[in-house]
Amino acid sequence: MNHSVLSTRSNPPVPRSPVGRPDGQPLHVLLRDGTRQVHNAIEEAELHRRLLEHTLSRQEYAHQLQIYCTAWSTLESVAASWQAKAPELLGLLHSRVPALEQDLERLGASRWPLPEKALDRLLRWREEALAEASAGSPAVIGRVYVMEGASLGARIQIRHLRRCPEVPEEALTFFSQCADRESGRWGAFLHALAARPFVRTDAEEIVLGACRQFEALHELFELCVRI
Ligand code: HEM
Repeated sequence: MNHSVLSTRSNPPVPRSPVGRPDGQPLHVLLRDGTRQVHNAIEEAELHRRLLEHTLSRQEYAHQLQIYCTAWSTLESVAASWQAKAPELLGLLHSRVPALEQDLERLGASRWPLPEKALDRLLRWREEALAEASAGSPAVIGRVYVMEGASLGARIQIRHLRRCPEVPEEALTFFSQCADRESGRWGAFLHALAARPFVRTDAEEIVLGACRQFEALHELFELCVRI
């Protein structure tokens, strides 16, 4: 018996806007437009500047992966508990955590725990995401959009990571997996987003969740670069 189907069907019908999307815009377009500014801002974070200049240190790279690892493991557990509500979207997630853990081990990242302020911010972010999910907020979909979409930039990032003298090739599994496998996976995610009808308030919460995810990551990246 498929529990997710049952629980979806047992929900009372929700009134929807005529085309199921606020202002007739597909959710993906709302997400892309609503997060353009925060995406541009994160691209310009000091950590990424160092990456593009090939001066990213091994320690900074280790911190970046630690942030991604906590973010992915949290979202994967959130998505698992949320899956009954959006199985076609969240069922697409495959774990990124093993690749991240492998890279962290190869880097010897335990030598470089996150700075205290970054760790506090990361734990606060984690609590916020978990609380949101247990309150049943669809913001989790926006957060997953950000993390999945990050893989598009990974195609550019991996080229630069390979030119950073302190970043070893054997610790690039996560970024190379993102860069290699992305097109099919992102396409499937967008397809599922497009197929899902959302009420206006859900869409607003989803875009807000995505913006909060970008902002938290950006803050975290700033807190872990070496001054
Ligand atoms: C140096 C850093 C980055 C670069 C150069 C970069 C670059 C890009 C590029 C070129 C695209 C468009 C790809 C395409 O349409 O085929 C893209 C999309 C995207 N990136 Fe980034 N990115 C970076 C960092 C990030 C980070 C850190 C995140 C989030 C953790 C992120 C999230 C996204 C998302 C969600 C999209 C999809 C936008 C859409 O809906 O079309 N990016 N990025």
